[in-house]
Amino acid sequence: MTYKQLVENAYEAMNFSYSPYSNFKVGAALLTNSGKVYTGCNVEIASFGATNCAERTAIFKAISEGEKDYKAIAIVSSSRDFTYPCGICRQVIVEFSKDIDIIVAKDYDYEVYKIEELLPKSFTQIDLK
Ligand code: THU
Repeated sequence: MTYKQLVENAYEAMNFSYSPYSNFKVGAALLTNSGKVYTGCNVEIASFGATNCAERTAIFKAISEGEKDYKAIAIVSSSRDFTYPCGICRQVIVEFSKDIDIIVAKDYDYEVYKIEELLPKSFTQIDLK
């Protein structure tokens, strides 16, 4: 699975976006170190706080199937610009992986980040010890 293929998986998931309130479609594709891919889209709810982002949909699907070891997550959206993960999703990403590649893509162009760049000085399980 190349990162370009992972981005294509994220675009396929974006087609399932349920976003009648914002009309902002987001797709994500999470690659595990065992080679599996879990996809996700954003799911909006009329009570807006119940909305779930695409990244969290993908990660929670993987967690719920026992997969906790991640290599990369690709994020795409219907925007003309790159869409970076929101603050809540950054916190969820750092919970499960310090080393994951975060691929922010637009068409065939993409950038790769580490969570330390996107969420420096994070609060994690270490702080609760
Ligand atoms: N959204 C995501 O799915 N991921 C992000 O990282 C940014 C925001 C969604 C949530 C909501 O459905 C829509 O984009 C507008 O905020």
